[in-house]
Amino acid sequence: MDKQFFPEHFYWGASTASHQVEGGTVNQWTIWELAHAKQLSKTAEQRLDWLPDYKHIKSKVEDPQNYISGNGVEHFKRYKEDYRIAKSLNLNALRFGIEWSRVEPVEGQWDEEVFEHYRKMILEMKAKGLEPFLNLWHWTMPTWFADQGGFTKRGNVKFFERFVQKIADEFGHNLRHVITINEPNVYTTFSYLTKEWPPQEGNLLHAAMVIWNLVLAHKRAYKILKRKNSKLLVGVATQLANIQAKRPRNLFDEFSVKIMRYVWNWFFLNRIRRHQDFVGFNYYFSDYYTGFLKRDNPKVPVNDLGWYMEPEGLYPLLLRTWTHYKKPIFVTENGVADEQDQYRRWWLEETIIAMERAISEGVELKGYFHWSLLDNFEWKYGWWPKFGLVEVDRNDGMKRKVRPSAVWFAEKIKKI
Ligand code: BGC
Repeated sequence: MDKQFFPEHFYWGASTASHQVEGGTVNQWTIWELAHAKQLSKTAEQRLDWLPDYKHIKSKVEDPQNYISGNGVEHFKRYKEDYRIAKSLNLNALRFGIEWSRVEPVEGQWDEEVFEHYRKMILEMKAKGLEPFLNLWHWTMPTWFADQGGFTKRGNVKFFERFVQKIADEFGHNLRHVITINEPNVYTTFSYLTKEWPPQEGNLLHAAMVIWNLVLAHKRAYKILKRKNSKLLVGVATQLANIQAKRPRNLFDEFSVKIMRYVWNWFFLNRIRRHQDFVGFNYYFSDYYTGFLKRDNPKVPVNDLGWYMEPEGLYPLLLRTWTHYKKPIFVTENGVADEQDQYRRWWLEETIIAMERAISEGVELKGYFHWSLLDNFEWKYGWWPKFGLVEVDRNDGMKRKVRPSAVWFAEKIKKI
């Protein structure tokens, strides 16, 4: 490893999201889980038996409890222990969320105790030398907000603004980095087009409204935060895919690539171009297109979720993002579902090389956040996909155990 590639103050971090780890969250997603757990367990085989190791996960995915976030991995309670572990992994930053439904469970009423708790979390992070990167919205919302139509209505954006204003008032001077919205493209697609996530709508008009309203929500949040503290650095965490043509120079494939890159990768970022201090993106996928918008990815290697893995695809994506926006970049999420920990080290190794290449070519990359610090609740899949640098045994007192790949990662970043 050559020291000079990574800047001296590079952030090496890991990401979490409130609903996926905290435990005890009550939001629109919790309600949906409780209503759908049975049905998800019953339809598991027909949905998932194509996965590489269905036999291994069968008993888990056919158990309704798998689909209930419940007490999470008790991160809300055990944050001190988790920060200690993060520090022992030589990390110097954490991306975390403040759960809107927790701080404003009833419309217009703040839970001050919860604010105090988050304040303690932020102070503890800092005391441990972990730079807090606050993420404001990671898909979950108070039920009262969801009941009024969530982000489908432009008039509802004011509720989000009020939440952001309160966060700015409480924490605007304790923080240096804020991420407003996680993966607006993914949320809009799964919740309003493909009907996989709550509220399971397949409504193009609503999808269009949601994405525009998220653009608006971000811009307004940006202004609120900067007004409070002009030194705050604000951005999003969108999801970018390394989109390529299956048959380079084939007209149809190249056409599909143009459309997909624009719609999936650049549409949102272009709209907020002047309202971001950095570009934050999550990288998981390299997607190969053929014919008219047909995705046709290689069949190996795949992770436990069946996702084709190409960690080095981060490199072209970093170059393109830099060329488009010329703003500092953070990789806000990146990782693999890998229970046996057979791919994670390779993934990390390739990822570090991809980042080095990009930096050496002038890309202003400022930080990398692995997904995730802990094993967590993976949305519609539930508990079985394991993304953690740290394994959590939910059947044995939520015991934390550092995975071998994480030990390797910790050593690596110490030497950089
Ligand atoms: C999301 C995370 C999720 C991860 C793995 C990202 O799309 O932001 O919440 O757990 O991918 O699927």
